[in-house]
Amino acid sequence: MRIDCPPKVNLYLRVVRRREDGYHELETVFQSIDGGDTLLACPAAALSLSCSDPELPTDERNLALRAALALRARCPAAANRGAALTLIKRVPVGSGLGGGSADAAGALRLLHRLWESPLPPSVLREIAAELGSDVPFFLLGGTAVARGRGEQLEPVLLPPGRPPLWLVLLTPPVRIATPWAYAHWRPEAAGGPDLETFLAALASGEPERIAATLRNDLEPGVAAAVPEIAAARRWLLEQGLPGARMTGSGSAVFGIARDEAQAREVASRSGAPGALRPARCLTAAEALPEPEPCGPDDPALP
Ligand code: C5P
Repeated sequence: MRIDCPPKVNLYLRVVRRREDGYHELETVFQSIDGGDTLLACPAAALSLSCSDPELPTDERNLALRAALALRARCPAAANRGAALTLIKRVPVGSGLGGGSADAAGALRLLHRLWESPLPPSVLREIAAELGSDVPFFLLGGTAVARGRGEQLEPVLLPPGRPPLWLVLLTPPVRIATPWAYAHWRPEAAGGPDLETFLAALASGEPERIAATLRNDLEPGVAAAVPEIAAARRWLLEQGLPGARMTGSGSAVFGIARDEAQAREVASRSGAPGALRPARCLTAAEALPEPEPCGPDDPALP
């Protein structure tokens, strides 16, 4: 079976405070986007992972395998089950797009199906939250407000039938470690519109209004230490996009496009300081494809 694992951007990220446990209390808006990794699973006696990117670990350091092991540990019905997992990696590591977390949630959904696990969604959400702060979002998808360390979720329901929001994604050739980004949070430099103002702009569907209310409190600290990020944001704004922000802990930066045509046109330009592509914002239904059967001739296979 196979499953697509769409990544995310944080359209809005306010750091409320640093907590006693070392995590940071957040108020953030996650948004699923297209162009994610693909995970395939074949029935097998043992649990194993292989990956299209030879630089990525395929042992327990890989969140997809950790997710598989965690599911099996919590599900007596799957205690003796295995699977040969293949991860086709497209989302850059250390870019703030949640690629590893999306893979972990994809592994949970895929193996829940393959192993015919009877665990209820609430237990899958618990396992997800243990794997990482933003993994639970990838079981929900679409647009959602997250609080706590990112695991307390509330879907944002946008008016149906509206054309999707289009972004231009620019990933500079630097990787950012999430703990490092939080350690560089500068409360005095952070700030911006409140969540209510951002959500009202998002509900209006007007790209210019949305662009004017973006916020990421981690950006000032990270961009001050990593000039590539400031350069990426500057480049996007110079192309005439109405707004741009870093996503999550970086390093990717997204610009808001007025429509699909502008996103595609800007993404086709040369001279960008990093990897450039158009990105379409997805609804929850689009972001949570059901696992589907596949064969050895699956187009996702390398
Ligand atoms: O939960 P996750 O493993 O993804 O978090 C990685 C690291 O990012 C944490 O150890 C912490 O340093 C930082 N973090 C944080 N506040 C959050 C989420 C992550 O400080 N809300």
